[in-house]
Amino acid sequence: MILVKTIEHLRLETERLAQGKSVGFVPTMGALHRGHLSLVEQAVAENAIAVVSVFVNPTQFNDSKDLERYPRTLENDLKLLKPTGCAIVFAPNAKEVYPEPDTRKFNFGKLEAVMEGEHRPGHFNGVAQVVSRLFDMVEPNKAYFGLKDFQQLAIVKSMVKQLQLPVEIVPCAIIREKSGLAMSSRNELLTEEQRENASIISETLFKAKELMGQKTVQELKEWVVGEINRNPFLNVEYFDVVDDEQLQTVKSWNEENTKVACVAAFCGKIRLIDNIVFN
Ligand code: PAF
Repeated sequence: MILVKTIEHLRLETERLAQGKSVGFVPTMGALHRGHLSLVEQAVAENAIAVVSVFVNPTQFNDSKDLERYPRTLENDLKLLKPTGCAIVFAPNAKEVYPEPDTRKFNFGKLEAVMEGEHRPGHFNGVAQVVSRLFDMVEPNKAYFGLKDFQQLAIVKSMVKQLQLPVEIVPCAIIREKSGLAMSSRNELLTEEQRENASIISETLFKAKELMGQKTVQELKEWVVGEINRNPFLNVEYFDVVDDEQLQTVKSWNEENTKVACVAAFCGKIRLIDNIVFN
């Protein structure tokens, strides 16, 4: 496994190792956990080589405190990546990714007007900026994204379509801790007590799936928010049930679409997201 920090070095090593065969790419912001490693393992299995990027992208943080707090653990990330069979780790600095400020404004229409897009203005524009730049640098055939960031996946697919990029986006299952808590780099920022209580978020989503037929959509939403907020460590920012393509609010269970229940909640100062497919 080779660590590269510049685009030039990345291109040289990719060409040398892939020899024109397929490149699988996993973009990350580091602080890797089992969720990331499962994406990397899939990328290794399905391609001639796998490239993982580790870059905490400043343009996608709408809160400077959140950016400062974001865990940076490159040494440990490298240790975790080594046994996966990943060929190249690309860990550029901000100047390498953004030699000039990126002023591009993407338009994702309805997709970015809800949930994360509504509560984190500018976030998805920043994600699209960095992912499109990383795709230009790595030139992958396939790129792997976790379903935990369900809306991000929809945004990335839309960006690939808009820019007509020759890359296949591969969605990967949510990996959970034993308690059910969705794996996230942000979990590292929770105290042990907070982490135990944060599992109420996924527990409530699982129960909500069972209750789906017994309550109206509105009743279920109120129930979920009430259940999570009952826990003194947690505070829901939003909970919504949306269709899996346009991410628009579902009004009735009779609608013929795949429904996904999505939640964002604060555990102390740490913002966590999760989702579950209802049918
Ligand atoms: O999901 C993430 O970790 C980030 O949003 C991504 C895709 C690596 C872009 O910075």
